[in-house]
Amino acid sequence: MKIAVLAGDGIGPEITGQAVRVLQALSSDGPRIELEFAPVGGAGYDAAGDPLPEATLKVAGQADAILFGSVGGPKYDTLPRAKRPEQGLLRLRKHFDLFANLRPALVYPELAHASTLKPEVVAGLDLLIVRELTGDIYFGQPRGVRTNEQGEREGFDTMRYAESEIRRIAVVAFETARKRQRRVCSVDKANVLETTQFWRDVVTEVHGQYRDIELTHMYVDNAAMQLVRNPRQFDVMVTGNMFGDILSDEASMLTGSIGMLPSASLNARGFGLYEPIHGSAPDIAGKGVANPLATILSAAMLLRHSLHQEAAARRIETAVRKVLAQGFRTADIAEPGRRTVGTKDMGDAVLAAL
Ligand code: IPM
Ligand code: MG
Repeated sequence: MKIAVLAGDGIGPEITGQAVRVLQALSSDGPRIELEFAPVGGAGYDAAGDPLPEATLKVAGQADAILFGSVGGPKYDTLPRAKRPEQGLLRLRKHFDLFANLRPALVYPELAHASTLKPEVVAGLDLLIVRELTGDIYFGQPRGVRTNEQGEREGFDTMRYAESEIRRIAVVAFETARKRQRRVCSVDKANVLETTQFWRDVVTEVHGQYRDIELTHMYVDNAAMQLVRNPRQFDVMVTGNMFGDILSDEASMLTGSIGMLPSASLNARGFGLYEPIHGSAPDIAGKGVANPLATILSAAMLLRHSLHQEAAARRIETAVRKVLAQGFRTADIAEPGRRTVGTKDMGDAVLAAL
């Protein structure tokens, strides 16, 4: 099986480096895995003048799955939008039609203290955000900056959802909920936005085929509040691209650190891109202190969803639980005064636990 490794920028190479070691270790006595590396984001721009070079797209297209690090950095912020690192990721999502973004937020018992919320509020949390990833205001046309009739400049974007786009993500949410607690909360802003009233209507229609699942609806502002008030009320949250972007960052802090959250972005064939939900963290890049666990857990999701290697996925997840129980902490998840380990030490610990 072939995995395209697109490490990207900032801490991307450091954290994917550790996930690669884990995959290689598994490959020695489990599924045979071949890795191919290619530049993306700022690294793609540096290598080929494009955040998603043709050669990288080819490597990705020939693989069974993509392991992705992170993209972006201050050095690239002034480039024209089409050349910016983030476009590499957005184009990959669109090109492979990776519409279903699964973002689990799991609180490990040892890390309940690391959340900025009280441990008793977050302990035992197991929430899955299902974010639509290839539509919405992220991709809607027209968009741009123009001069309006009053002669003033204005910026504009288009929020847009086709029925088929809503249907297929709703199906993913209901199907996933069946393997969990059978509760789906659909998040919208139906009190203000036409697009999201339509979203609510279509999700309700699809629910007709999933009567065994409990469906509730929530406005996004309330959902943001409920996530910090009582996050354990949620099982699966399904929402559009932009609300999902925002709510998943919020949900990550319930777990203690954004450095812990993996994600899967899947298309209808089960081909997927797997990445930590955090960014490239330019402030700590190259220092060897970044938490590699979100990327290592993304590799576990890759094995599960794209390679159908459930046993191997569980081995990784069990190893991560074990190193946390053993007390290994990178700086982002450490109690004050506790000894911390660096990126590579954390990788070593996971390998030893494997
Ligand atoms: C994410 C990121 C991306 C997004 C950026 C890097 C384009 O924030 O995956 O959540 O907005 O989707
Ligand atoms: Mg985001």
